[in-house]
Amino acid sequence: MPGLTAPSSYSQEPPRHPILQINSKEPFNAEPPRSALISSYVTPVDFFYKRNHGPIPIVDDIESYYVSICGLIENSKDLFMRDIRMLRKYNITATLQCAGNRRTAMSNVRTVKGVGWDVSAIGNAVWSGAKLADVLELVGIPNLTSVTRSGGKHVEFVSIDKCKEENGGPYKASIPLSQATNPEADVLLAYEMNGEPLNRDHGYPLRVVVPGVIGARSVKWLDTINILAEECQDYKMFPPSVNWDNINWKSRRPLMDFPVQCVICSLEDVNVMKPGKAKVSGYAVSGGGRGIERVDISVDGGKNWVEASRYQKTGIPYIADHMSSDKWAWVFFEVIIDIPHSTQIVAKAVDTAANVQPESVETIWNLRGVLNTSWHRVQVRVGHSNM
Ligand code: MTE
Repeated sequence: MPGLTAPSSYSQEPPRHPILQINSKEPFNAEPPRSALISSYVTPVDFFYKRNHGPIPIVDDIESYYVSICGLIENSKDLFMRDIRMLRKYNITATLQCAGNRRTAMSNVRTVKGVGWDVSAIGNAVWSGAKLADVLELVGIPNLTSVTRSGGKHVEFVSIDKCKEENGGPYKASIPLSQATNPEADVLLAYEMNGEPLNRDHGYPLRVVVPGVIGARSVKWLDTINILAEECQDYKMFPPSVNWDNINWKSRRPLMDFPVQCVICSLEDVNVMKPGKAKVSGYAVSGGGRGIERVDISVDGGKNWVEASRYQKTGIPYIADHMSSDKWAWVFFEVIIDIPHSTQIVAKAVDTAANVQPESVETIWNLRGVLNTSWHRVQVRVGHSNM
């Protein structure tokens, strides 16, 4: 691949912030502590979770780097960075969430396969770049196309990283052509994150960002855009009855929009405190551009609930699905509650389509440990003296 190389060892990894909790060193997978995660609405790049399947690629020569667009289209094309930068630049605030966020809690029910994550495989950034819909227009695919003349229905993004999980091949993922060519879906070929060029960990020089969809589709270090008849077989969810002996990959749809999710970040899994008032705060988010209608908090394990306040930017009231809100971004919530004795504190969110998080992780267990969106629960031990 001109301009980009993929090392097969981990000897040339970029520097990373010491605050990150490392879940796997090679490939590098890490997340910030939950309290740091909610210290700002736009997650600083250093604190943003890093999810890799192989060693980080290296850009040798940005001038000769290009993305090939090929497959079931009339005219294939190679686009250099200058061609992509010539297209209109959009700034989209979007939350990226790994389908494996909160996997560790699911693996406590029964073993699952995948990197363990606490609650911070998620972050919110301002991504800048060209819209994929505009890029596809350059190769003769008009906006709002769901099938090309030669039968292409899916857009596959192929990287160059050498991944053990992909049998040494590159990482790839696909989205439907109808989503890729819909300008309102805001799918980007992004070259900036929070106003700076992407760093190596997050996909320099160019990555895909698919807002509202599991992070797996936002392919980093983009090499090729392939128009295909069939979708790429990858991240899927299976019912609790499926195990590694009876799994049939073709039987399930790939995961797209992430479901409604919320997490308490002001408290750890187990907390010791004195009786009195405490702040319960965290993030809530839903996929597909759906807003957050409500966040409910319980101080008695889920019997009684109070509603938390929600906000994105200070001073601007959050109104779900309103023009003033960032449609693809998370919402912070906050409530001050009285905690007189030891208890379990629970959070659950409701999105604008009235979807609610499931009550227990047991009912949504799956062998890949994806989409743990069950009610988030933390324990508080209240001591009355000599604390
Ligand atoms: N793209 C490439 N090329 N290689 C990868 O390993 N990981 C995917 C996606 N894109 C991945 C990739 C997954 S599973 C997630 S959740 C997001 O990138 C994570 O993006 P981040 O590391 O910028 O947070």
